[in-house]
Amino acid sequence: GGLAIGVDIGGTKVAAGTVDASGRILRRARRDTPERSSSPRVVEDTIVDAVEELLADAEQQGEEIVALGVGAAGFVGADRATVVFAPHLSWRDEPLRDALRARFRRTITVDNDANAAAWAESRFGAARGETHVAMITLGTGIGGALLFDGVLQRGRHGIAGEFGHMQVVPDGIRCECGNRGCWEQYASGNALVREARGLMSARSPVAEDLLERVGGDPSRLAGPLVTEAAREGDPTARELLAEVGHWLGVGLANLAAAFDPGMFVVGGGVSAAGDLLLEPARLAYRRHLPGRGYRPEAQIVAAALGPDAGLIGAADLARAEN
Ligand code: BGC
Ligand code: NA
Ligand code: ZN
Repeated sequence: GGLAIGVDIGGTKVAAGTVDASGRILRRARRDTPERSSSPRVVEDTIVDAVEELLADAEQQGEEIVALGVGAAGFVGADRATVVFAPHLSWRDEPLRDALRARFRRTITVDNDANAAAWAESRFGAARGETHVAMITLGTGIGGALLFDGVLQRGRHGIAGEFGHMQVVPDGIRCECGNRGCWEQYASGNALVREARGLMSARSPVAEDLLERVGGDPSRLAGPLVTEAAREGDPTARELLAEVGHWLGVGLANLAAAFDPGMFVVGGGVSAAGDLLLEPARLAYRRHLPGRGYRPEAQIVAAALGPDAGLIGAADLARAEN
């Protein structure tokens, strides 16, 4: 019983929700993530603002909030308190748990955003009953998590599962983590938008439909618009999603080599494209799987909780660990 608040802090949005013990979201609060150049204090204020809205709501309804959990888009240290590094936010050795604890005067549970999503999918979503789960979230970057026999695999320093920063292209595109050729430069929401904008800025005739959707201004393009265009049959949008899907599949084949999961759950904003993304991913996965034809193939499925997995998982982890 009792309700928990979960907050998913991503590169573009802060999504908070009041979640019951069965993983249902009763109320939501949403804010834009402050610019990457904003100070940690500004990010903290945004989180506090969203959570206070939900706390006030609960109080008005006479409901008790038993736990508060945060899923953060960054490398969360083994202390589960510090965000050691965040490629898309200003956090560097940021004492996030204690900063929030001081603001709320409550116990706070902190985890990586993709870890939280994996937890939710395993408890309430697509991975129920699966013993060996690998989670991939496609948003601003790529988030990753491993959950074996119901236990999140955190590594020696808390930072396992940073799949987005595996190199897939030697000397490839520069990543916010400092390296080049990282997976998330090719298979994330950012990658999708970058490629679409590239076509639009080149005034490529194949980008006419997309350009029209943003009134001729490429900077107004966001990931969901590409998905919408693809759904409505725009061949260029479909091609862009298929390309991201291809890179997704290549990375998944590498993860299969390393971890041999039974299931890959693909979440995050881009996963809303469904099979327009996942079919090309499955194809590339099969083609790149080491020892193909011999080894069993893990299923590749969309997150059942969609983009809500992170906040639901953050709330439920906080409840479980309280
Ligand atoms: C970060 C991860 C995060 C992911 C998704 C990556 O760039 O390194 O910590 O989970 O983005 O937000
Ligand atoms: Na992770
Ligand atoms: Zn990187």
